[in-house]
Amino acid sequence: MSLLDFIKKSPKAELHLHIEGTLEPEQMFALAKRNNIHIPFKNINEAKKAYNFSNLESFLKIYYEGAKVLVKEQDFFDLTWAYALKCKEDNIVHAEIFFDPQTHTDRGISFDVVINGIYKALQKAQKEFGLSFKIIMCFLRHLDEKEGFKVLDEALAHKDKIYGVGLDSSETDNPPNKYEKLFKKAIKYGFITVAHAGEEGPPEYIWEALNLLNVKRIDHGVQCLKDEKLVEKLSENQIPLTVCPLSNIKLRVFNKLEDHSLKKMLDKKLMVMVNSDDPAYFGGYLNQNLIETQAALNLSKNEVKTLLINSFKSSFLSEEKKKEWINQI
Ligand code: HPA
Ligand code: ZN
Repeated sequence: MSLLDFIKKSPKAELHLHIEGTLEPEQMFALAKRNNIHIPFKNINEAKKAYNFSNLESFLKIYYEGAKVLVKEQDFFDLTWAYALKCKEDNIVHAEIFFDPQTHTDRGISFDVVINGIYKALQKAQKEFGLSFKIIMCFLRHLDEKEGFKVLDEALAHKDKIYGVGLDSSETDNPPNKYEKLFKKAIKYGFITVAHAGEEGPPEYIWEALNLLNVKRIDHGVQCLKDEKLVEKLSENQIPLTVCPLSNIKLRVFNKLEDHSLKKMLDKKLMVMVNSDDPAYFGGYLNQNLIETQAALNLSKNEVKTLLINSFKSSFLSEEKKKEWINQI
């Protein structure tokens, strides 16, 4: 089998995916019309042209603007269903999906509308083509910790649907230590924790996520290579880093894919895998990320296989399920 076919046909897990980041321009326009919402683009081409980012902050501005077209439960269902169909296409058999309730509740949309739409679409995908999933609720780190406590309490009514909590949005100047009490409370409620750290921010933020937020995984984490002691700790404990190569290029964390540190991370025996982050904005879903990264870094078939195996090892699936999928790669 060619390496390309191996990538396309192997089962895989996606662990770093913001559901709001799967809103394709075509769907954004359709929902804007359906809900009579103004969007700041004249047409689909103009929207696509605006997806030219200089850093995380410049992306977030457009991403939050786009999310305004999501109003009704059916909108969240349609958004999530479209991603589920991409999973089928890319042979993603397990997806752990982020959603940002505050992006919606701050506009007057109820928490129930958001979670029910997402959950019902994933349940349908599970029933129709066997997609397994976990939902992770992210706190927006540019907002106060106080705001986070409010959504955490709302999440309790949906504890059966939400597996864990995470931390996303503007990393610079919003270190994990700002959310220590919130994460302690989430853990007390029984949620597992993850956090974006070391995307643009310093290695210190990764230390804080581990030591203060007790995270099971670090989202991105590519800045860890600046700190040898941290690399040692991450490698020894096989703490997963959910790397997103095309995202890192679009947000200029690296100049070009050939400069990406993923291969160095594999060489250092770090627990890394590939993810798409916000595929509608960053130029491709999971297979596209794998295909382009393999080519740019000249990854061997064994290295690609390690990435796919790591996607299951790093997931929140049962040990038994992990083994089953890994045996099929
Ligand atoms: N980083 C931080 N916040 C985000 C991202 C990201 O890559 N995508 C969506 N929200
Ligand atoms: Zn992300």
